[in-house]
Amino acid sequence: MIIIKTIKELKNIIRSNKKQGHSIGFVPTMGFLHEGHLSLIRAAKKENDLVVVSIFVNPTQFGVGEDFEAYPRDLDNDAKVSEAAGADVIFNPSINEMYPEKYQTYVEVLEITNKLCGLSRPTHFKGVTTVVNKLFNIVEPDRAYFGQKDAQQVAVLQKMVLDLNMNIDIIPCPIVREADGLAMSSRNTYLSPEQRNAALILSKSLFTAKDMINKGGREAAEIKETIIKMINSEPLAAIDYVEIVDALSLNDIPTLKGSILIALAVKIGKTRLIDNIRAEV
Ligand code: PAJ
Repeated sequence: MIIIKTIKELKNIIRSNKKQGHSIGFVPTMGFLHEGHLSLIRAAKKENDLVVVSIFVNPTQFGVGEDFEAYPRDLDNDAKVSEAAGADVIFNPSINEMYPEKYQTYVEVLEITNKLCGLSRPTHFKGVTTVVNKLFNIVEPDRAYFGQKDAQQVAVLQKMVLDLNMNIDIIPCPIVREADGLAMSSRNTYLSPEQRNAALILSKSLFTAKDMINKGGREAAEIKETIIKMINSEPLAAIDYVEIVDALSLNDIPTLKGSILIALAVKIGKTRLIDNIRAEV
């Protein structure tokens, strides 16, 4: 496995792989890799000849006062674990390499970024679609792998690829959880042991909601109310949102039907955590 720092070098590697007819799988990340990220790398390895993993803490997707500086970084360990999972190339550019002075082009998806996480993070998805677009142009992947952990991110990127006629398959991959249900996240490292315990209320409430649906519950308001009550019973938790939406359009649905996404964001202390579940009804 090799670690590449410049766009020029990576483009050369991509060009020579394309010449040999190799398919390219791409896993964009911000590093501090855990089993969730590694599951994407393993999936990419199964379906492609060359697996490229980007590790770049993208400043444009962090809002003012968010955790860009504090975001955890550990390139040595990331290199070790991603190689073991099947990565061939790590792309780890500097900020200046991606956003040189006088940089001025952004890619924005409109409607579906104005809900869920977009409400409390109004500039976030513009940063995500811009950096992912740039990375797609550099890596030219056949397939790109994203976790359902960030369900809105997947929906937004699928819309971008569709609207901009990009020849890239977006492959959504399941959420990887700790044994006790907590969705894995680089941000879990911010939690104290007490907060880590409180954070279990996110997955617990979603599993309860899933039970209600399995038992025939179809009223979004009723399911939402149960989730909200459970989370509010945890003193360290403060709800940002709890929403039950159509999984593709992210539009609200009063009565559950089709592909459903139950998504939530909750602050535990200063740490904002997200989680979700899917259901087919
Ligand atoms: P990051 O948070 O590092 O996540 C990289 C990828 O790993 C995303 O597709 C995310 O959904 C996936 N992932 C994270 N936790 C997961 C889990 N518990 N189970 C399954 N997949 C998980 O998402 C980003 O970075 C950035 O926004 C990025 C797309 C790289 C653009 O900067």
